[in-house]
Amino acid sequence: MRHRSAFVPVIAAPCGEYVHPWNGRGTLLGSAAAPPDRLGGVEPVTEQRRPWVVGVSGASGTPYAAAVLRGLLDAGESVDLVVSRASRLTLLDETGIAFRDAHWRDDLTTWLARGADGKPDTFRVDVGDVRYWAAGDLAAGPSSGSYPVKGMIVVPASTAAVAGLALGLSKDLLQRAASVMLKERRPLIVTVRETPLNGQTLRHLVTLDEAGAVVLPASPAFYAGATHIQDLVDFVAGRVLDAAGVPHGLYRRWKGELGGSQAD
Ligand SMILES: Cc1cc2nc3c(=O)[nH]c(=O)nc-3n(C[C@H](O)[C@H](O)[C@H](O)COP(=O)(O)O)c2cc1C
Repeated sequence: MRHRSAFVPVIAAPCGEYVHPWNGRGTLLGSAAAPPDRLGGVEPVTEQRRPWVVGVSGASGTPYAAAVLRGLLDAGESVDLVVSRASRLTLLDETGIAFRDAHWRDDLTTWLARGADGKPDTFRVDVGDVRYWAAGDLAAGPSSGSYPVKGMIVVPASTAAVAGLALGLSKDLLQRAASVMLKERRPLIVTVRETPLNGQTLRHLVTLDEAGAVVLPASPAFYAGATHIQDLVDFVAGRVLDAAGVPHGLYRRWKGELGGSQAD
């Protein structure tokens, strides 16, 4: 008796030609006389671009997101950007910028050039290697584990996003991309911004920690000698980049000596 294989990578089409079951468009890949190659028509991964996905959700703290984005781009990293619907309100409230999908490059450039103190054109930023995905686009690259990325940073992370990530809701592209990071065991950094925290959010944060995410609250420290609001923002952004393993010079590191914050 012949046993049927549990997994048959190539199936016969009615006309005797072969159709690869993973080829969503049903392209005929060969014939009975010329069977498909060993990869069965699946393209090897050759794309070199491997970005960080940055998800901006609707918590207060858009300057943190701007500083992280600048840090990644300064370090030569590629970025795939997702801006949640709610974060457009916080961005509008905190910067006066109405972020538009159709004009994202202009709006992003204006945003990233702005200092945390509100001064425009404080930073010169090239947003050349940013790929933007609309938050409602669940067919976007980062919604699949086969799309090559280094990991994802959610900054700032709302408690709603934290809940969605912990429960795997995938209600938009930001949450879906974060779920993909966890299932693929890729880095996920969650910069939660809320105070005080209720028990629900604390439990969700523990769930994320146990799932392998780095929970990195937007919690500036004062040992690095901050004198301006940008220093406090850059401290948090620098700690995010530390967690991602991305080099930066955003804050003065602790050197093991008290009083270092007052040194030049
Ligand atoms: C001006 C403003 C500030 C907000 N700040 C916070 C905040 O700091 N933390 C938070 O968890 N939610 C905050 N919210 C509420 C979130 O935007 C809301 O929960 C939203 O549903 C989050 O959706 P998202 O996670 O899909 O972006 C704020 C809302 C507004 C309008």
